[in-house]
Amino acid sequence: MLATLDRPATSSTVDPAFRRDILSGFSQRQKTTSARWFYDHRGSELFEQITELPEYYPTRTETALLAQYCRDIGEVTGAGRAVIEFGAGSAIKTPHLLSAISPAAYVPVDISGDFLRESSAALATRFPGLPVVPVEADFTGPVTLPPLVADMPKLGFFPGSTIGNMMPREAVDLLRAMKESLGNGAMLLIGMDRVKDIDVLIRAYDDAQGVTAAFNHNLLARINRELGGTIPLDAFRHRAIWNDSAARIEMHLEAKHGVAFMIDGVVFAMEAGETIHTENSHKYGPGDARLLLRAGGWEPMDEWIDAGDQFAILLARSA
Ligand code: AVI
Repeated sequence: MLATLDRPATSSTVDPAFRRDILSGFSQRQKTTSARWFYDHRGSELFEQITELPEYYPTRTETALLAQYCRDIGEVTGAGRAVIEFGAGSAIKTPHLLSAISPAAYVPVDISGDFLRESSAALATRFPGLPVVPVEADFTGPVTLPPLVADMPKLGFFPGSTIGNMMPREAVDLLRAMKESLGNGAMLLIGMDRVKDIDVLIRAYDDAQGVTAAFNHNLLARINRELGGTIPLDAFRHRAIWNDSAARIEMHLEAKHGVAFMIDGVVFAMEAGETIHTENSHKYGPGDARLLLRAGGWEPMDEWIDAGDQFAILLARSA
């Protein structure tokens, strides 16, 4: 995931977009923050812990799908493609794919240079002879790929159901940006989480050990540390809610009682029961997943789903 190190923040080390986004999100009637700000150093650690929780099925289900079906995937993609992974490579998922499809090169793209270099070095050791060329870039827009892969057919790889954390219109923009980055003849292998039993979904985002609650609260700690905030963390409770009409889990932080605090010198007040909406995690049924891909300029070719219909990996070609 995207990570930044928890250095003591000074005004020059704080990302100006973080300040802007938080102040404008907290100024709305429904206070809202972007999920991208969860992933400071501590947030990334907590997310890693989430992926190992018994209730959090997506990581384990997607990894098992890749392990089981990587040969079938390789038969459809063919050998000799440059694999472009959006997000620094996952140490568990990426090797399954790389070992099955005989890639010509591997290019992980991530905004966090530190994380990218670490995961690239690990993969280069594991696949000697495979050119590994990390690119430090924000992949929500078109990315310039290294000249080495210019003439190679590309396979975009976007596991983790991260697409679900975007509003559908942002997801479509992202898919279109990926299509532009990857060029003609490209394919895209993407993980999407399925709509399922609501209790299963709620438990995955409100686990018994409270790790997801800690992940949610950590955003407030980050605001306090980096933006001179005075938010009392214990005045908020973690909530995971299923929004049926939008087909998504929403994470909120709900004020237990009336509370006032400052962020960067600006005063905010919340009443009991008011929430800060911190994340959306959209779930896609089979038809919705294919429609989303088509809207983003990709023609679905194949898909692999676990026996419990929990999670899908879809392969599409540039339309
Ligand atoms: C990164 N992303 C796909 C996770 C999800 O499931 O939406 C983030 C997450 N939030 C709470 N738990 C996990």
